[in-house]
Amino acid sequence: MIGSYSSVSFFLRTIVLLLLLFLTLNLFNTFASLTPNLCHPDQRDALLELKKEFKIGKPDEFLDYDGYSIAKTESWAKSSSDCCNWDGVTCDARSGKVIGLDLSCSCLHGRLETKSSLFKLQHLKSLNLAYNNFTLSPIPDTFKTLVLLETLNLSESSLKGHIPKELLQLTSLVSLDLSSSASTSYYFSAPPSLLSIENPPLFLRRLARNLKNLRVLDISCVNISSQVPLEVSYMSSLRSLHLRNCNLMGEFPSSVFKIPTLQSIKLDNNPNLRGELPVIPINNSMQVLSLVETSFSGIIPDSIGNLKQLVSLTLAGARFSGRIPSSLGELFELSSLFLGSNGFVGEVPSSIGNLKLLTIFDVGNNKLSGNFPSGLLNLTKLRFIGLSDNEFTGSLPPNIGQLSKLEAIVAGSNSFTGSVPASLFQISSLTDIYFEDNQFSDILGLQNISLLPNLQYLFLHSNYFRISSPVDFSVFSSLKQLLGLALSGIPLSIANITSDSDFSRQFTSLYLSGCSITEFPEFIRDLINLKSLDLSNNNIKGQLPDWLWRLQELRDVELSNNCLSGFDGSLQVVLGSQIHMLDLSSNAFQGPLFIPSTSITYLFASNNNFTREIPQLICRLTSPTIIDLSNNNFHGYIPRGLGTHMSFLSDLNLRNNSLTGSLPDMFMHANKLRSIDVSHNKLEGKLPSSLTACSALEVLNVEGNAFNGTFPFQLSSLPKLQVLVLRSNNFYGKLHQSNGVWFGFPELKIIDVSHNDFFGTLPSDYFLNWTAISAKKDNTQLHYIGDFHDYGYYTSVVLMNKGVSMALERILTIYTAIDFSGNRIHGQVPESVGLLKELHVLNFSRNSFTGHIPSSLANLTALESLDLSQNKLSGEIPPKLGDLSSLGWINVSNNQLVGSIPQGTQFQRQNCSSYDGNPGIFGPSLKDICGDIHVPTSTPVLEEEEEEEESFSWVAAGIGFAPGVVFGLTIGYIVASYKHEWFMKSLSTP
Ligand SMILES: *[C@@H]1O[C@H](CO)[C@@H](O)[C@H](O)[C@H]1NC(C)=O
Ligand SMILES: *[C@@H]1O[C@H](CO)[C@@H](O)[C@H](O)[C@H]1NC(C)=O
Repeated sequence: MIGSYSSVSFFLRTIVLLLLLFLTLNLFNTFASLTPNLCHPDQRDALLELKKEFKIGKPDEFLDYDGYSIAKTESWAKSSSDCCNWDGVTCDARSGKVIGLDLSCSCLHGRLETKSSLFKLQHLKSLNLAYNNFTLSPIPDTFKTLVLLETLNLSESSLKGHIPKELLQLTSLVSLDLSSSASTSYYFSAPPSLLSIENPPLFLRRLARNLKNLRVLDISCVNISSQVPLEVSYMSSLRSLHLRNCNLMGEFPSSVFKIPTLQSIKLDNNPNLRGELPVIPINNSMQVLSLVETSFSGIIPDSIGNLKQLVSLTLAGARFSGRIPSSLGELFELSSLFLGSNGFVGEVPSSIGNLKLLTIFDVGNNKLSGNFPSGLLNLTKLRFIGLSDNEFTGSLPPNIGQLSKLEAIVAGSNSFTGSVPASLFQISSLTDIYFEDNQFSDILGLQNISLLPNLQYLFLHSNYFRISSPVDFSVFSSLKQLLGLALSGIPLSIANITSDSDFSRQFTSLYLSGCSITEFPEFIRDLINLKSLDLSNNNIKGQLPDWLWRLQELRDVELSNNCLSGFDGSLQVVLGSQIHMLDLSSNAFQGPLFIPSTSITYLFASNNNFTREIPQLICRLTSPTIIDLSNNNFHGYIPRGLGTHMSFLSDLNLRNNSLTGSLPDMFMHANKLRSIDVSHNKLEGKLPSSLTACSALEVLNVEGNAFNGTFPFQLSSLPKLQVLVLRSNNFYGKLHQSNGVWFGFPELKIIDVSHNDFFGTLPSDYFLNWTAISAKKDNTQLHYIGDFHDYGYYTSVVLMNKGVSMALERILTIYTAIDFSGNRIHGQVPESVGLLKELHVLNFSRNSFTGHIPSSLANLTALESLDLSQNKLSGEIPPKLGDLSSLGWINVSNNQLVGSIPQGTQFQRQNCSSYDGNPGIFGPSLKDICGDIHVPTSTPVLEEEEEEEESFSWVAAGIGFAPGVVFGLTIGYIVASYKHEWFMKSLSTP
């Protein structure tokens, strides 16, 4: 009963309401048609003239704006004769004067002139011309005549030049927006600014003084190029101050943060702007604080807890350090927190668990430690957790699944251990899981992955998984959104996946390195959007299918360390293929090398058994950058046509093949070439003269060929050459220029000319000006030659050190060596050798040096290995050499030395063989080790081991990491672009 009664009354009331509404509307219409035109003719004319001043551009001119553009002026005078009814026009109700004009996003195209009839609208209080195209005309100084203006918005309207100082006469201004797109994307720099300020400090000071009423100031993307004057902090009405991407410099006055009315401050993308956060007062209104990509430093003060109204705190990419204060947990309104890419240390305070409204938590790329911040588990609104690139340890909480709104968890590059918890696979909103580069040993519940229907990226590579039974790969086939999958290190059973299985056609990145795969997976054939494929470190046998080359989006193909033996199907170049990187290295390929695409830029084919000639097609690669065909069995000549696109090439490695003929004279345009390695072939003739054009060359290695000619002094002007290896060829002649000019090679650090036929003497000032080996470099950070190369490609070299040949898989830029051994050099060892203070390895053995060992050698405090054996040196070993504490290996055997061995422990620790064949040498301590020095004895085992260990640790330091980190960089790139996408995606949705 009651129910039906109330529904009847509801019905009646609705009818009454509708009637009333109808009447009101009618009355209003009648009234409106009765009122006379409010519009003043002069105002109307001005507007119509203004309309005529501009063409209507196409909306797609305004690409930066993602709203709608409507050509508002089009309808003017057509819809109504009363200009006060026109779109975008507001009149004063009493006077009828136009006081507001909003022509934002109106497709206006044309110059905004000083004499525009806009300036006849003298009563304007509010003017918005944002998002139009004023074709790079300047801001007219006649704006100063619109003295009543309170709001002026010229943002994003293609105005160019200096902001006229006359604008500062508009003392009624409350809101001024001259901004352009201060890129909202994180980590990406914004476009160049069009507007700028003349005499910026003065301008800003005047602005602060004149525009006392200003509440909103946005001049983002205006090129200011100066310091922000203190006066800005006197703007006591300011609510919003946005100075993004203004090229601000110097110290930002921290008192600005204390303006009590200030609600929003954004200083993003001012990399030279320094500053610190002040002690924050209790009375403040701050809601948004953003300092992305600035040089703000110092700590986050405890008083940050006073920003009780703060909604968004964005300090990413600055230089803050110290701990994250616990008081951050008092910002109860906080919804997003970006602290990434700073220097924060310590643990994330547990008080973070109080931020119940938090949706984004990003502390990636700091030095934070401790366990997974458990406070996060309380935050049920969380959509994003960013912890990557820190030092977090311990296991992930098993109840992480309670974060039911989570979309992305980015936790790569930490030291998390244990299992990836099963509950994670119950968060159905998840789109992104990045757990790469940790120490996870297991994944629980991976078979439930299909419960994550929205999953786009799952990155689990570079962990220490100890998963014994293979995971059935078909569990991934139901994930329709999947774009990127990195399961490297997880054994997969892939056999029952067929090409008609249900895999997402959207896939762009598939990384299955080290997944115990034995056959080339057929299903990949249908991944028509695949861009990156990594199948390295598996046991894939047989032929490489030709359908692979027809995946038109494919760019990076990493197949190294498998057992592939050939190419299947058609060996035609695939037109339209975009393959950029192809890594076939360390397989079992035989026969000719097939180059599937001319777009290949990085070609890695080393460590196979390719035979025949280097394919001529290599000369048609449009922009070859790295070509590595080393350790194969290529025959024939080096194709001369390689020179055609030489201007792209950065590294050429043909080491250890059977190539014959000469090194072609093809380097005329090779101005990006950083390394050439043609060692261990059968090449002959002279080095080509065009090598002198390789102004970027760092490494030249021609070891183990039959090259002849004199020492290549013509290369001595190469400004970057660091490593020159001529070892084991037929070079001959003198090692210095007879006219006594400077040796050259300003950056040379490693020179190995051993086992040639160089002869003559070395003048005593020979080592004068070997600058790179004599000057102390402030190298606190170790670098390798090739650091920052694309695809982590490093040049390697084999050198003699401590009597053994040592492979440097990567060459430390501080490593230095001089090896002149096995030639016919005679005369004195130059006294100037003592200038080579940074030298690590010196080998003059197997020559005909005479005279004394120069005592200046005692200056070489960095020296680790000294070989003077098999010469005709006489006299004593200078006693001062005994002080060289880093000298770990010495060989002076087979000379005519006399006297006692120096006292230093390093000399005392050598094998007896180091002194053999010097009938006149003696040393009491030697006796302890060797017994009678004249009788060569077998080396004590202990000594040998120590020796080995020492040279091993040096090798380890030289090598650093195993080569082949192509993978990491590719991923790095993807993560960076992914981050961008996630933020764009989530920031654009309100
Ligand atoms: C200026 O106008 C644009 C377009 O209407 C708007 O998005 C922006 O918020 C305005 N600026 C200010 C400070 O109100
Ligand atoms: C250098 O090598 C080339 C090619 O093997 C040979 O023809 C020439 O005679 C050699 N020159 C000298 C001086 O040995």
